[in-house]
Amino acid sequence: MTPPPTIIMIFGGAGDLTWRKLIPSLFDLHRDGRMPRKFAIIAVDRVPYGDAALRNRFLDGCKRFSRNRKVGSSDWSAFARHVSYHQGDFEDPATYTRLAEKCAAVDAAWKARAGHIFHMAVPPVMVGTIPRLLAPAGLNRNRVHDRIVVEKPIGHDLESAREMNSTLKESFHESQIFRIDHYLGKETVQNILAFRFANPLFEPIWNRRYVDYVTITVAEEVGVGHRGGYYEHAGALRDMVQNHLMQLLCLVAMEPMVSFDADEIRNKKVDVLHAVRPILPERMAESAVRGQYRGDTVGGRKLPGYRQEDGVSPRSKTETFAALKLFVDNWRWQGVPFYLRTGKRLCRQFSEVAIQFRSVPHRSFPPEASRDWHPSRLVLSIQPEEGIVLGFQAKYPGSKILLRPVEMRFSYQESFSVPSPDAYETLLLDVMNNDPTLFMRADQVEAAWQILAPVLHAWARNTPRGFPNYAPGTWGPSEADALLARDGHEWRPIEASPP
Ligand code: BG6
Repeated sequence: MTPPPTIIMIFGGAGDLTWRKLIPSLFDLHRDGRMPRKFAIIAVDRVPYGDAALRNRFLDGCKRFSRNRKVGSSDWSAFARHVSYHQGDFEDPATYTRLAEKCAAVDAAWKARAGHIFHMAVPPVMVGTIPRLLAPAGLNRNRVHDRIVVEKPIGHDLESAREMNSTLKESFHESQIFRIDHYLGKETVQNILAFRFANPLFEPIWNRRYVDYVTITVAEEVGVGHRGGYYEHAGALRDMVQNHLMQLLCLVAMEPMVSFDADEIRNKKVDVLHAVRPILPERMAESAVRGQYRGDTVGGRKLPGYRQEDGVSPRSKTETFAALKLFVDNWRWQGVPFYLRTGKRLCRQFSEVAIQFRSVPHRSFPPEASRDWHPSRLVLSIQPEEGIVLGFQAKYPGSKILLRPVEMRFSYQESFSVPSPDAYETLLLDVMNNDPTLFMRADQVEAAWQILAPVLHAWARNTPRGFPNYAPGTWGPSEADALLARDGHEWRPIEASPP
């Protein structure tokens, strides 16, 4: 679907997110012929910039971060003529008045009321200011055409998230607010819905009768890099668990939706979060594990510890690894543990959901036939491998009965020859088409914070033991393995490099 005429105004237009993600994604959409026939991109920021200098910087961003890292000159000039700069202080009402005049002029030239999108690519503190100043300039009034896009983090805890949501709602109706969690734009994440609800095969076994436990992992090989200043006040729980891992949990655990209506899907997801059993303070040690990476040499490369990264305190208590054990208290999932983990500087980058099925009720095979027995496991691989792997038992060829685990694999790359769009491409297109399905609603954000509140509270109150407590290139602190081992479970063993 080609979106209607649109003006995208990016606040923080001279910043990193715009350069690295937003512009390269918009460029790719344009190259693929998926942008509106009429569109304008206005980068808004306080630093002085001419249109030409800005376009050069964006060209550099597209060369580094667009889908195939190549920018043909005709593709670039066709795109770049839509891009301009609007210099102004975010706290100065005049910035907004001039912007409103620009929008009116564009609408008049196009002879159409364009969609006006205000993308907040700014630090969270500015998200309190900008919507309040968009309103007096009349830039928020049209419920169908005016939309605001907000990046995570939505708050720092439950209270600040509520505050941010209510600030946004002072100027915009909930239907105009698009809160981005880029994980929802990933093809493989969206495929969880297709896999679960487009195939009658799995739904009957997707419950406590057949599922023993579920692990959700989002592992990164990189450290915090140049983002230490931000990360120091966030940590793994706020940076990753509150949003990306909770989204995965919702998609895996939600009930089937009745229709593909945005609110129907989002209601079903919020139901999951509301059903998560609160973690009691006395159960904290057996439900939550935190870690911080130390410095070490890995593969001949000397890697700094978290405490040596730029912008990080040498005595930092911030966690760069978090693992949680959660229960979803409803009929479907009663008693099934969901283990979530994420961390930086782990063995390798990969994200997956592993559904571990129960063992057969009775083993009819002789013990020597089934020494290598593994109950069936279904792995939804999100990145970098994109696909689904079902592990089950098969008979090893030969005259004797010997059982061996084998795998059935679906790979995106092999099955579909089209490349997956970047998550931001999908999400930006959805904003232009006014489709909120893949965006977080206020109640979902707040429900996720509510789950984490006791952990945040306990971790802020108590000094972590033994920080830094894991070496780079490992799977995090040993307590994360113990979290599952206590229940007779394990994280799925992962090879150090992709197969
Ligand atoms: C971001 C976090 O939301 O997600 C980063 O702030 C993290 O710390 C990133 O590195 C991971 O995203 P992806 O798409 O690379 O898995």
